[in-house]
Amino acid sequence: MMVARPLIVGIGGTTRSGSSSERLLHQALAEAQAAGADTLAFSGEGLLFPIYGTAKPGTAEQGFIEALRRSDGVVIASPGYHGSVSGMLKNALDYIEELRSDVRPYLQGRPVGLIAAAAGWQAGGSTLQHLRSIVHALRGWPTPLGVITNSSLPNCCCGDQISLMVGQVMDFAGAFGAGKAGMAAPLQPFCVA
Ligand SMILES: Cc1cc2nc3c(=O)[nH]c(=O)nc-3n(C[C@H](O)[C@H](O)[C@H](O)COP(=O)(O)O)c2cc1C
Repeated sequence: MMVARPLIVGIGGTTRSGSSSERLLHQALAEAQAAGADTLAFSGEGLLFPIYGTAKPGTAEQGFIEALRRSDGVVIASPGYHGSVSGMLKNALDYIEELRSDVRPYLQGRPVGLIAAAAGWQAGGSTLQHLRSIVHALRGWPTPLGVITNSSLPNCCCGDQISLMVGQVMDFAGAFGAGKAGMAAPLQPFCVA
């Protein structure tokens, strides 16, 4: 049996270079690569798209949409801004509306690992919950484990939670990969006999 490499797309961070959410996103993608995935990251100012619906998607937005169309799994990392997802990140996620007519609409059939980075536990918890609601609306499958980090604590880290969460994304990407078979759009199957 030949096993191809699943594509895991990472989305997140803030406009602040080296933000905690961006750092954790790249840590998650590095773990996914080590576990056998190809990865693509859309982070920081690379997510500064025009407000969705105000302009035709340009080159950057089209690249984002196409990567998600091809994805086998997704990781999203948001800062906690006023108890929720940042506006920049939510606007980028709104572009997933462009996948509404796909054979796999929106994030259907894709596991989605979630990371919330806030300066307190309360905003971390609510941001993670809001991310889960957004992913449900997009027909994606949030992994059972979501990661929260509290950036106000010295040397705050997530222990092995990023690894565990990425492991769940990889496991479910493999399980869902079979669902790509027979799709109208020719996508690389995750597992082929
Ligand atoms: C506009 C804004 C709103 C914020 N709101 C909250 C909040 O409601 N609760 C909280 O714990 N932290 C809040 N923070 C702090 C961020 O969540 C914190 O800096 C976190 O580490 C994410 O930022 P980073 O990914 O840039 O490091 C806010 C920060 C900004 C810039």
